Amino acid sequence: MGLSGLLLLLGLFSPSWAGVTVQVPGLQVPPQYASRRADAQKLFTVSYDAYKQFAFGHDDLSPVSRGFSDGRNGWGASVVDAMATMAVMGLDDIFEEAVNFTANIDFSRSKTSSTVSVFETTIRYLGGLLSAYELSDEKFPVLVQKAKEVADKMAFAWVGNNDMPFGFMNFATNTPTRSTSNIAEAGTLSLEWFMLTKYTNNATYGDRAARSAKHIANLASPLPGLAAQGIDPATGNAVGSYVTWGGGSDSYFEYLIKYARLTNTDEHIYIDTWKTAVDSSIKNLLRKSTVGNFTYLADFDGSRIRHVGSHLACFHAGNWLLGGKLLQNQTIIDIALELNEGCWNTYAGTATGIGPEAFAYISDDGSFTGGNSPSTAQMNFYNQHGYYITSSAYILRPEVLESNMHAWRITGDTKYLDRAASAIDAFNKFLPATVAFAGLNNVNSVTSSLIDDMESFWFAEVLKYLYLTFDDPAHISLDDYVFNTECQPFKAPPALDSYGGSGKLVPAKPFAAQSGALPAVSPNAFLKSAGVPRGSR
Ligand SMILES: *[C@@H]1O[C@H](CO)[C@@H](O)[C@H](O)[C@H]1NC(C)=O
Ligand SMILES: *[C@@H]1O[C@H](CO)[C@@H](O)[C@H](O)[C@H]1NC(C)=O
Ligand SMILES: *[C@@H]1O[C@H](CO)[C@@H](O)[C@H](O)[C@H]1NC(C)=O
Ligand SMILES: *[C@@H]1O[C@H](CO)[C@@H](O)[C@H](O)[C@H]1NC(C)=O
Repeated sequence: MGLSGLLLLLGLFSPSWAGVTVQVPGLQVPPQYASRRADAQKLFTVSYDAYKQFAFGHDDLSPVSRGFSDGRNGWGASVVDAMATMAVMGLDDIFEEAVNFTANIDFSRSKTSSTVSVFETTIRYLGGLLSAYELSDEKFPVLVQKAKEVADKMAFAWVGNNDMPFGFMNFATNTPTRSTSNIAEAGTLSLEWFMLTKYTNNATYGDRAARSAKHIANLASPLPGLAAQGIDPATGNAVGSYVTWGGGSDSYFEYLIKYARLTNTDEHIYIDTWKTAVDSSIKNLLRKSTVGNFTYLADFDGSRIRHVGSHLACFHAGNWLLGGKLLQNQTIIDIALELNEGCWNTYAGTATGIGPEAFAYISDDGSFTGGNSPSTAQMNFYNQHGYYITSSAYILRPEVLESNMHAWRITGDTKYLDRAASAIDAFNKFLPATVAFAGLNNVNSVTSSLIDDMESFWFAEVLKYLYLTFDDPAHISLDDYVFNTECQPFKAPPALDSYGGSGKLVPAKPFAAQSGALPAVSPNAFLKSAGVPRGSR
């Protein structure tokens, strides 16, 4: 064989042996689960049919009252957020219909009077458009045009020479509307804006978003690698000293490792900071419950550990599994699997088999949560389950099933398929509303009242993660795609042989808690209810 033949062979076969692999090679879903993929698709089509009938073009369907709501500026968030799921499921007709709708969105102004969230608009609209463009083989250039339109408006959130954008802005005046932001808002832009650069060849987009994330990574932090939640985009300083993997911080950490993988950048700061954050979390935040020996990641409020957890934070297990595989670090993988058990247990323990919005626990260093001590009923629940519920709603969030999907693809253990199947059964049993599916006010009651809102992340995340759990693992493989925090897949370049960063942890810098304004939203304000805008995810 000549040299060119050898090179051809190397080229053909290199993906299977060169580069770090994330998934179990050759993994297949056993035949007894075959019907489950169709079950996930049915949840999607029933939901989307109802959305089309009662809410098309609006942001969310109200599945109890058969109405709609417009919490995402009225541009049709469910259509845009659902497009990549349609592409993944091969639903070509409604995909094309969605492209046609999207081509006519007017991003020059908000349809509602409310301000525009740079973060939410980036992860749902910008991410949704670019993922849909890519997954449909670049057939509809209008999707990039629309992505550019909305990004060019959001670009006004970077004021002057600030590294970070303001979190919210007024599209009518192109000016920011709030001062204090958080690291999730400022640090969850890098994947989407990088993709925009990829498809427009304008480096400014990606550079700006990366600069924002890097600025956070370079700040002194309350614990090594773990930046404080609050941030002031005007000064670039940290605000307060609250540390959490939950809402308001979550996807900043998530994107550190994902950006490194999506770009294969040789800048070490992303991997080094992610690794330091994980290492520091293991040393400082990891807790075992006194009942059940479950593993949790606590919050740190600047002086004390808070024994709390949340549905939002439960993405951490999947993220640590992905990063643990890329870094080839079995310690991180093993702890990630324990964290995944703790999160799944919050589903397994309730009367509906669906997990709550927020929970708490007790470890050998106490039960401090920053809030009320557990009631007698909560203690009884804790003594049975190893956690107790502090916010009982389920608002159609994905994170537990997201981590479960990662655990399946990364270990090949079919118990994760059984769990996803049980979630599908629980959804079919407890979520049906007048039309489609609704959230629950109380996951621990089989007669819970429903929440009259179907968030766009039901289409984008929950149903895509469920579908992919039962799909051929080679389709949208974790070795080929990086998911944004809204589960919009972006095609990644071939993996490198190692993702070691500099090999060193980031040195701690002395941290002085910033006095002055507290974060605009307290951690619990991220629990969306009664129209409170989500600060994260
Ligand atoms: C989308 O728009 C094109 C051009 O107007 C039209 O030909 C096509 O039938 C439309 N497709 C759907 C599914 O509405
Ligand atoms: C790239 O995008 C930035 C930000 O929107 C814009 O100011 C600049 O003019 C663009 N550059 C080119 C070459 O189009
Ligand atoms: C793997 O990660 C753990 C936790 O951060 C760390 O203690 C250990 O040194 C890492 N192992 C290697 C080989 O880097
Ligand atoms: C609790 O879990 C840890 C692993 O996180 C394990 O090492 C330990 O043995 C367990 N303890 C008990 C009492 O089961």
